[in-house]
Amino acid sequence: MTKQRLYSGMQPSADSLQIGNYIGALLQWRGMQEEYDAFFSVVDLHAITVAQDPEHLREKTRRTAAQYIAAGIEPSRSTLYVQSHVRAHAELAWILSTITGFGEAGRMTQFKDKSQKQGADATSVGLFTYPILMAADILLYQTDVVPVGDDQKQHVELTRDLAERFNSRFGDTFVVPKPVIQAETARIYDLQDPTSKMSKSAESHAGVLWLLDEPSVTAKKIMRAVTDSEGSVRYDRSEKPGVSNLLTIYSALSGRPIAEIEDEYAGRGYGDFKKGLRDVVVSEFEPVRARALELLDDPAELDRLLAVNADRAAEIADATLATVYERVGLLRRG
Ligand code: TYM
Repeated sequence: MTKQRLYSGMQPSADSLQIGNYIGALLQWRGMQEEYDAFFSVVDLHAITVAQDPEHLREKTRRTAAQYIAAGIEPSRSTLYVQSHVRAHAELAWILSTITGFGEAGRMTQFKDKSQKQGADATSVGLFTYPILMAADILLYQTDVVPVGDDQKQHVELTRDLAERFNSRFGDTFVVPKPVIQAETARIYDLQDPTSKMSKSAESHAGVLWLLDEPSVTAKKIMRAVTDSEGSVRYDRSEKPGVSNLLTIYSALSGRPIAEIEDEYAGRGYGDFKKGLRDVVVSEFEPVRARALELLDDPAELDRLLAVNADRAAEIADATLATVYERVGLLRRG
């Protein structure tokens, strides 16, 4: 039986991934790459929807790819590539934009949040059409499943709608993909502000755990994480958002159920609990960090790997794009 296809990606919007990316996405990717024919991209075209320093963007793109590999994505098994290396992404995004409603795109909550924060004049049209480019990423590969954190769910729903619309207008062309979201870990919160999602683009880094931080920095951030005055290690998302978030992280990285961790720390203070969590996080991150830095020491080899993988991706993407051009009635070049 042929394997089902999996597609996912991350923006190279910071020097390091954060623990939400790691738990909400990368851990799932790693676990699924054997069972699926998997494609993982570093979505640099998405990153430029907000201003980027050109030299720094190139560096962040390499860093993101290195962290995929360091976290266990195998470039010989999965297709791990940079989005802008495959031209079909931008081309399909254009075609899909012509079947997307203006109101439909305007309902995307991530766009609404970001544009509200930045103001209309500072918001690019690219940020508005961002989800359409994401739909193109997914649909080019005839994707069955898209493992993401829950902030991306609405974008995958839009992708499904566009695939169905295109198929009904122009004939069966795209596989209609499904989001795969791990309920327990779909949203990791900021350690200083545990009702806000942890984000690569957070204004303050005090509550963000970066994969590439020095272990001593990670340890400090955990020991300073916001909790509450109750003093008991107990999961209660609405009353105890800080402790609940730390329990989620602990459970995701140790593979132990939350109830078992609550039992272990029953009658002990937050200090002990945080020390336990610190050890779990640091020992998980240490080898990933070391491997990522090692890979970044040899950028030429990393670039070579990415090029080979981009060729593999382009072959599939170009075939889908050719069918799309044919279906919508574009005249073939003679
Ligand atoms: P990005 O770069 O914001 O995030 C990458 C992945 O990490 C997940 N994630 C989280 N999960 C749990 N808790 C958090 N605090 C947290 N923060 C981020 C995200 O849900 C995501 O899975 N638009 C996408 C990138 C993209 C993409 C695609 C994804 C472009 N094309 C095609 C899937 C398929 C984004 O900005 O992710």
